[in-house]
Order: sequence, then C-alpha cells, then structure tokens
Amino acid sequence: MAGDAYLQFDQVSKHFPGVQALGGVSFGAHAGAVHGLLGENGAGKSTLLKILGGQYRPDGGRLLLGGHECHFAGAGDAIAAGIAVIHQELQYVPELTVAENVLLGRMPTRFGLLDRPKAHRLVAERLAAIGVDLDPDARLADLSIAQRQMVEICKAVMQDAQVIAFDEPTSSLSHRETEILFRLVHGLRAEGRTLIYISHRLDELYELCDACTIFRDGRKIVTHPVMAEVPRERLISDMVGRELRDIYDYRTRPQGAERLRVRGLAGAHVAGELDFSVRGGEVLGFFGLVGAGRSELMRLVYGADKRSAGSVELDGATVDPAGPNAAIRAGIVLCPEDRKEQGILAQASVAENINISCRRNDLLGGLFLRHGREAKLADDFIARLRIKTPSREQEIRLLSGGNQQKVILARWLAEPDMKVLILDEPTRGIDVGAKNEIYRIIHEVAERGCCVIVVSSELPEVLGIADRVIVMREGRICGELARKDADETAVLRLALPDAVTPEPVIRSMP
Ligand SMILES: Nc1ncnc2c1ncn2[C@@H]1O[C@H](COP(=O)(O)OP(=O)(O)OP(=O)(O)O)[C@@H](O)[C@H]1O
Ligand SMILES: [Mg+2]
Repeated sequence: MAGDAYLQFDQVSKHFPGVQALGGVSFGAHAGAVHGLLGENGAGKSTLLKILGGQYRPDGGRLLLGGHECHFAGAGDAIAAGIAVIHQELQYVPELTVAENVLLGRMPTRFGLLDRPKAHRLVAERLAAIGVDLDPDARLADLSIAQRQMVEICKAVMQDAQVIAFDEPTSSLSHRETEILFRLVHGLRAEGRTLIYISHRLDELYELCDACTIFRDGRKIVTHPVMAEVPRERLISDMVGRELRDIYDYRTRPQGAERLRVRGLAGAHVAGELDFSVRGGEVLGFFGLVGAGRSELMRLVYGADKRSAGSVELDGATVDPAGPNAAIRAGIVLCPEDRKEQGILAQASVAENINISCRRNDLLGGLFLRHGREAKLADDFIARLRIKTPSREQEIRLLSGGNQQKVILARWLAEPDMKVLILDEPTRGIDVGAKNEIYRIIHEVAERGCCVIVVSSELPEVLGIADRVIVMREGRICGELARKDADETAVLRLALPDAVTPEPVIRSMP
C-alpha cells in the first residue's frame, strides 16, 4: 500500500497492577483499508482500542493521526478528533431509546429544546439506510444483545468518523446482522475511512481485512500488509506461539447405554414436541442458525423455562421439572450462552467465580481444607485454559473479555458429580489455543461416561467434536446425522430454509 498510514501507533505501552497490557506497540493502519487485530485472550487488543478511544491514557508512546501527534484527555477528545470505537463491552444507556443512544450528546435541538421528532426521523432514516429493522423509540433495555450491538454500530457510523474501530462486533450477531455489518464495513472502506477490526474468527478476518497485526502478551509479533497472502496456520502459530494442528482433537470412545431421554418437550419458543436421547459417553452436537430454538430447548431441559408439555428422564428416573436446582441435584448442568449476564460475580475473584458451584455440595470438611482445595482447582483451570490473570485472587471484572468467558466456563467444567453437561456456545469469544483445550476437556468429561450436549452456531466446531449431530430449524428438530454422515452440506441442507443455497452462509473456523 502506498503512502503513510493515516493512523499510527508508536511504541504505545500500558501497565496495570500486575499486568503489562501493552509493551511498546508500533504499527500503522491505512485509509481506505481494514486492519485486523489478532491475538489470544488478554493479548492487549481491547486495551489498544481503549487508548485509541481516549478511555485510557498510555503510559508511554505516541498516537498519530495524519502524521500529527494526538493527546486525548477523555473519550470526548477522541470523538472530536474523528475516532469512533465500538467497544467489546457495549456502552449504551439501557433506560434511553434507540434514537437517544445513537445521538447521545448530540441530540438535535429546536429553540433550545430537544427536537425529538427530528431525532426520530434522523435515526429512522439511518437505520433504514443500513438495513436494520429497529424502532427508534424502543428502549435499549427491551432489545436483544444483538440489537443493542447494531445500535452501537449505527451510533459510530453516524459520528461520521475518519477512524472506526470494531472490537469483536459479531460475537453476538445473527447471520443476517453479520451480513449487514460486513456490507457497512465494505462501504466505509470504499469511502476511504480507516478501519480497525478485532475478531477471533479467522474467516471473518480473511473476508474483511486488507492488512493485519498479531499481538501476543502485549507485544506486536508482526504486521502483514496483505493478509490474504498469509496462510491460516501461520496466523495461528504466531498468535499462540506454538503449533496447533488439529484443534478438535476428536477421539472415538466407548459409548454406554442411553442415559438422558427427552420426551415431547414443548415451551413458548419451541414449536414442536421435541424428542431426543443421549448415551453415556456421547457428545451430541446441536446445530442450527441463530433463532432455531436450540438455546430455548436446552433451557426447557434444564428447567430454566417453563414447559408446556413433556418430560426429561435421566437413568430411567423422571427429573423433577421444578427448576434448575432440581436439575442440578439430578446431575444436569447447563452453561448458558449468555455467560456474562447470567453467571458472573463481577466483584468476586477468579477463584471464587470458578468455585461457586462446587461449594454448594461442600458443606462438610473444614474451612481450611476447603480453601486449599478451591485454590488448587482454580489454579488447575487457570493453567489449563491459559486464563491470563496475575493471580487467582484478581477480581474477574479486570480480566479481558475472553478470559472472563474462560473463568465462567471453568466453573461448569469443574462441576463435580455431573451426569449431563450442556454447553451453549462454549467457545464464543475464546481464542484458538483455549478452544483446543476446551474440546479436550469435553472429551474427557464424555470419557467419564457423562452425556455432553454442545450447542453451537459454528458448523466446523459441531462437525469437529460431536459423535452425532441434531439439526434444528424454526423451533423443531429437522434431522439427525451420525458423525460419519455429518458433513457441511448435509447439515446445512437440514438447517437452512428450502430456498437458500448453502454456499455463502457458513464460513469455516480455524
Ligand atoms: N482495568 C484493568 N485492570 C487490570 N488489568 C487489566 C485492565 N484492563 C485490562 N487488563 C489486563 O490487560 C491485559 C490485556 O487485556 P485486553 O482486554 O486488552 O485483552 P484482549 O486482547 O482484548 O483480550 P480478549 O480477546 O479476551 O478480549 C489482560 O491481561 C487484562 O487482564
Ligand atoms: Mg478484548
């Protein structure tokens, strides 16, 4: 690419107690191009975007825009300099409407008063222009996470910024919303904006990015001016600092008798009366597009949502449908899709967050003993999942987004005495190295004779780890495939509405 980069980072560093988040990072991003940032959880990507967005001040180094050095005292300065950042932790005001959030701080006024009709019109036009179907007067609190994410994106685009940075924008978007976002990014690039894009999904990065920079442990490993020329294996080994061959690590294992049997289950969002069973030692994959009803079905099995019909049996005995506590007592455990909203104790430590569910069964034994056991369990998982934290005592909220996910997942993987483990989108937002370790743990749990159910929207993940795949569409089970028959085409043929051709929908994963 000719000419100087419009946006330049020069020796930028940032330190937190016990953590060197960035240690002298330099690279440039060009106008009219998308620059991808890659790296393991905790590598420093979001910290860099917080510096770019004026939220953090760097300890050292410079930020240059169009060759001029910038100093931001706060987020307002960065916005004024033409920078819009869509952060990983969305920053909306739940009580305000879509229009108010999009125009936050810039609401149109008329004779000194807020001009609501004008705000409504402006935002409605913009949403329609980018193809998002949302009511400008809806309150953010009433929207889904994906819709809130689209509001944030719309807000950034309406700032008309020269530099727009996206921090894992697709982590909770549906397929359709992802397409809208990609169209937007392509359009912004054509207009000559400078775009920064963070994601753990390599296919997405290959599709969108011109150049990319790889981070590891707060340092820049390499910048590739033309990402398309770099093989996937090379990107992965640069990210994790080791060779990773087959990340799924599938092993055949003996399967026992049927243990879990679901009969005629129905609920508010599940159209049919659903039946399926799982054998001891089996990993059953549930695939479907976002909205197919997989998470709803699992919540019914677990008793988190109210059933209108049906029953769940484990080892021949009916599981009390009273709710999650009854399910857990019976040995059924669900790690929810929305881990952060549903499971995190933000003020508590990493160790406490991992151990919380084991404590329930641990009224015996001295406090001292328990403390030692909990410390060991926490340290084991910190090591295995490569959770980046100064210690097990660190408050979980100070960890990077992906590392928080790992901690919550560890809590469920560590659950003692489980007979059925249900994981809903277990690797969302998690780096490739840790994915590999999570797949291994899934296999180990199955080897102990447990039933494992994995719900995922990542087709290669389902195909990579499951012994059998059930496909759902529009609240119904529409097919089942044994591992030997489950390839991409066969699964997609079941998952997609009849009129759609499989090709453009699913991209493969690392
Ligand atoms: N406010 C903070 N206080 C203490 N440590 C922090 C703080 N913010 C970030 N860190 C630490 O700095 C490191 C880099 O975090 P950062 O959020 O930039 O990672 P990331 O590359 O975005 O990871 P992910 O892929 O998980 O989002 C991590 O070890 C994180 O725990
Ligand atoms: Mg991050």
